[in-house]
Amino acid sequence: MTRGRVLVTGAGSGIGRACALYLADEGFHIIAAGRRLEPLQALAAERPGLIETVTMDVTDPASVEKAVAEASPIDHLVNNAGVAIMGAIEAVPLDEWRRQFEVNVFGVANVCRAVLPQMRQRGAGRIVQIGSVTGRLVPPYQGVYGSSKHALEGLTDALRREVSRFGIGVSLVRSGFVRTSFGDQEQESLKAHRLDAYAEDHDAYAKWHHDKGHKVAPDPVVVAREVEKAITAVSPKARYACPPSAKRFLLMRKVLPAAMVDRLIWKTIRGR
Ligand SMILES: NC(=O)c1ccc[n+]([C@@H]2O[C@H](COP(=O)([O-])OP(=O)(O)OC[C@H]3O[C@@H](n4cnc5c(N)ncnc54)[C@H](OP(=O)(O)O)[C@@H]3O)[C@@H](O)[C@H]2O)c1
Repeated sequence: MTRGRVLVTGAGSGIGRACALYLADEGFHIIAAGRRLEPLQALAAERPGLIETVTMDVTDPASVEKAVAEASPIDHLVNNAGVAIMGAIEAVPLDEWRRQFEVNVFGVANVCRAVLPQMRQRGAGRIVQIGSVTGRLVPPYQGVYGSSKHALEGLTDALRREVSRFGIGVSLVRSGFVRTSFGDQEQESLKAHRLDAYAEDHDAYAKWHHDKGHKVAPDPVVVAREVEKAITAVSPKARYACPPSAKRFLLMRKVLPAAMVDRLIWKTIRGR
């Protein structure tokens, strides 16, 4: 007897993969979605009979519609698929900005729009968005990614207020650094968008991100645990946060004046 069917986007790697495995172990039936079938099949092979696969590019509404039709019925949705484009605001070309928002914001809207009608009809369901601490506290050189996660916070607040009347719960999990290969694309992106004018600060940031970021962070299962809470709580919270370091950054953002936060961010990055 399953506890419900959960569609997880971007399930072929990292946090999405961890969510699929963890939720499958907790008694849910998983529909693992991603652009490439191979990693999804490898994932499904780890929990035979508990994980099915579907290909979906979240930026393509036709692909999303098709995948959702194949995957239905869907009780719960985890919007996890995401990309990160890094570099100074001035350095990142507009096409890259658009790609960032296509996946992290419009992609989430696409999948929500495709799944909501059946949740409304049933008068039940949970939607969990994988947000970021960066959606609240944006470090330098993360402005493109951070603004997409900021937008996700707004989208999620409105959605939660719109669909609670249908018995649908919507939560955001603000994750801090966890150990996935996300950091590799971020480092590549930092390299691609390095401007000489910013070189000293840019390099300090890239080094901090490399040395103190994903590489030494907790396993992504910490996010999966928060996702399960959002799906199973009788009254899900609007926001969850993990790991503990994320909670500290969020508290700092909440209680300190902006000028002090600016200083602390640079002190953290430079280590002095
Ligand atoms: N790792 C962290 O420290 C961290 C912290 C805060 C928030 N997050 C968020 O967590 C989520 C997952 O990140 P991760 O760390 O697990 O990195 P990841 O391993 O790179 O996972 C991202 C997933 O999104 C998929 N994806 C990208 N573009 C897509 C598209 N157009 N359509 C469908 N799927 C697409 C990727 O699949 P492909 O293989 O097809 O590219 C990949 O499976 C992201 O939303 C990220 O912003 C991560």
